[in-house]
Order: sequence, then C-alpha cells, then structure tokens
Amino acid sequence: MSSAENTHNPAMWGGRFAEKTAASVEAFTASIHYDARLFRHDIAGSRAHARMLARQGLISEAEGALIVQGLDRIEQEIETGEFVFRPELEDIHMNIEKSLVEKIGPAGEKLHTARSRNDQVALDVRLYLREECRRLIELLTELQKACVVLARKYQHAVMPGYTHLQRAQPVLVAHHLLAYYEMFGRDRERLSDALKRINVMPLGAAALAGTGLPIDREFVARELDFPAVTANSMDTVGDRDHIIEFMGAASLVQIHLSRLSEELVLWTTEEFSFVTLADSFCTGSSIMPQKKNPDIPELIRGKSGRVVGNLMSLLMLLKGLPMTYNRDLQEDKEPLFDTVDTVSRSVAIMAQLLANLTFNEARLAAGLGGGYMTATDLADYLVLKNIPFRQAHAIVGRTVAFCLSQGKELTELSLAELKGFSEAIENDVFGVLSIAGSVNSRVSLGGTAGSVVAEALTRAEEALGLAR
Ligand code: ARG
Repeated sequence: MSSAENTHNPAMWGGRFAEKTAASVEAFTASIHYDARLFRHDIAGSRAHARMLARQGLISEAEGALIVQGLDRIEQEIETGEFVFRPELEDIHMNIEKSLVEKIGPAGEKLHTARSRNDQVALDVRLYLREECRRLIELLTELQKACVVLARKYQHAVMPGYTHLQRAQPVLVAHHLLAYYEMFGRDRERLSDALKRINVMPLGAAALAGTGLPIDREFVARELDFPAVTANSMDTVGDRDHIIEFMGAASLVQIHLSRLSEELVLWTTEEFSFVTLADSFCTGSSIMPQKKNPDIPELIRGKSGRVVGNLMSLLMLLKGLPMTYNRDLQEDKEPLFDTVDTVSRSVAIMAQLLANLTFNEARLAAGLGGGYMTATDLADYLVLKNIPFRQAHAIVGRTVAFCLSQGKELTELSLAELKGFSEAIENDVFGVLSIAGSVNSRVSLGGTAGSVVAEALTRAEEALGLAR
C-alpha cells in the first residue's frame, strides 16, 4: 500500500473522505464496463504525458521511462485479457493508473501530475473518435465503390424514376445508384470536416483552469500527432460539441442508408421484383417456408432510430449544463460508442449487400410501360415547336386523359389522333415518346441521358481509384 492511501477510503481520491464509498454508489458511478474500450487511447495519452513531464523536468528521465514501460505492460495485459478491471476504481483512467502504481511503485504516482481526469477523458475520446471517424470515412468510400461498380454493371438498364412513389420519368439504374454515390460522398465530407474539430489536443486544461506547473502542451500534441491544441481550458473540459457534430454526420449516414434500405425492401417485394438479393444475405421465416426476407435493409432502417436517438441524447445532455466539467458528461460515451458501432456495421454490410444483388432487367422494363412516363417529353416537344410550356402541359394532360379513356399508351396513338390535340405535332414525335428517346434526351448537366451518366460514372471511378 502506498503512503498516499487513506485507510478510511481506499479510492484514489479518498484522502478527504472519512467513510468508504457505498457499494451502491460505486456501482452507480462506475463507467469501466464501457469506457474500458478507451484503454489504448488512455495509454497512448499517458505515454505522451509522461514523456512531456520528463522533458520538462517535472519527473526524472528514469521515472518517465519506468512509467512508459509500465504502461506498455498494462496495454499488453489488457490485450491478452489478463488485466482485471475493478469497478471500485470507477473508470479506465483509474484502473490503469492504479495498476501502474502497483507495478512500478512511487514513479507511477507521478503520472497524474498536471493532469485531471477531466482533460484526460477529453483526450481519450478525441483520440478514439478521430480513429473511428477516419475508419468510417474509409467504410463509406468502400460503400461508394459498391454503388459505382453496380452502376457500371447496369450502366444501360432503364428503370422507372419515381416522385411521390408514382412512376414519373424513365431513368438509368446507374443514375439512381450514382445518386447514392453523391449522398455518401457528402457524408464523407461532413465527417472530414468534423474531424478537423475533433483533431485538437485537449490535455493541459487540467481540471478546468489550466495548471501552474511548467507543462508543454505543444510537445504532447506533436507526440500524439495533433495539428493543434485547444485554446481555452474551460471550453476544453466542458464541451462535447465535436462529438455531437460527429453524431450528426453519422446520423445522416444512417438516414441515407435507411432510404436505400427502404428502396431495397420495396424492390425485393413480389409487387416490384426489381431486385433479387443473394440467399446468403437474406433470412427465412420460422413458419412460412416460402419466405425470403430482406432483414438486412430492414435492420439498417430500424437502427436509424437509435442512431438519431443517440444524437438527441447528447444534445439533451449538454442542454442546461453549467460550465465546466459535470459528471453528466460521462453519459456521452455509451451513445457515442453505440453510434460508432451501429453506423460502421451498417455501412459495411450495405456495401456487401450491394455486391450481392442483381437487378431484374425484365421487370424493370415491364415497369416502364403504362404510367405515361414520357408525357413530359411530349410537352417539351411542343415547347420546341414554340408552344408556351403551360399550354403544352394542358395539351398533354388532355392527351393523357384521352389515352386513359381509350386504354392506350401515348405511343399507341396515331399521328391523326395526336394532331387532334395539337396541330404542331408531326411524325418526328414518335422518337420523343419512346423510353430510350426520353432517357437520352435528358442531357442537361446532372441529367439521366446515357452520355451524361457515362461521364458521371467515369468521374466517380476516377475519384475512387477504380480501375476499368
Ligand atoms: N469517467 C469520467 C467521464 O467519463 C472521467 C472524468 C471524471 N472526472 C471527475 N472529476 N469525476 O467523464
């Protein structure tokens, strides 16, 4: 037992306490069962801190080296599962520190010089989150690749494009898939942007006011590869907005996944049958032998509830908190970890799912008949014949009503019948009314014409480094 320990209360902060902490209080305040996941980051932070203390003469070089060795041993013990976590030591920080003291003696008691758990936990979470943020960006890149590979595979396939879930205009399957490529690209950008504010070194804020001891924060930042240090000690230990930004960006990722999931759920129905998922990516029913269910997209869609809920938890956690550190902030970790796990796993499995699905081109083509999806093309045709768009819209509306009453497609009307609605209509109208004609006419920047989509596809492949 070291000299600093108190016989009344053995906690590391127990000096001023006459009584032992109640067991129920220990259980209620402990966070070790979830913050143990930060052990690598806690140890990395402590190593850098110890080196700084030695460099500044706050501890001897020998003590610094001893601390670093002790920390290395602890890291190994945790990795191999040998380390015993003790809930009465509350959290990962004190579990590691206590073990260090037990291993190396008094030098271990110097590690916490010029440091508080308040800036320590801030550092641990930033180290953890910058790693996870980068990993998620990589996973999103893989997901983008899956979208683009699929788009290339079905480059020329046409499908109904929808608004209000009503057939609207024909589009290329590739165009639809590249829409998700864009969404996930913005998700990556948002995460990269959040990363700038996550990647700032907080250690040295100490409890809240900084320290009078001669520390070197910039040295610690260099050791841990942070490009900057935080500017205000109170802000450093009191805010969690960088975590909320991450969770906001991660929520959007999950919402984008959820939209794609919803489409996959719809597309795999008997009614749509646009898509078939590989058997290995579906599950069956325990009672209905014929069932093949799209559980993966359903679960991804379902998990968006908790990811957005986690974001709300963090926002509410901060609301009304006075400066600076409050124990409430310990509640930031479980939602954060859950969001990291949920979103990362969802992104990864969606990429696999996309690699294991096929579009049923015959069903897509069947979905293009009916619904008068080239009606807008007819209106545009009239515009090019100098008829104001509003009049053209009305003419085509009447033409569609006529088709409906006759049970006919627009393409099934004779030129004479069409001329009954507008004298401007000539024989060249039939090219305009075809599905291929409609798709390929949409050459506006960002449109669905084959030529435009081919360029978009090449751009995406180049951006992702996909060889063709
Ligand atoms: N487990 C705490 C947390 O996650 C670490 C900081 C505790 N600081 C304190 N003064 N009790 O926030």
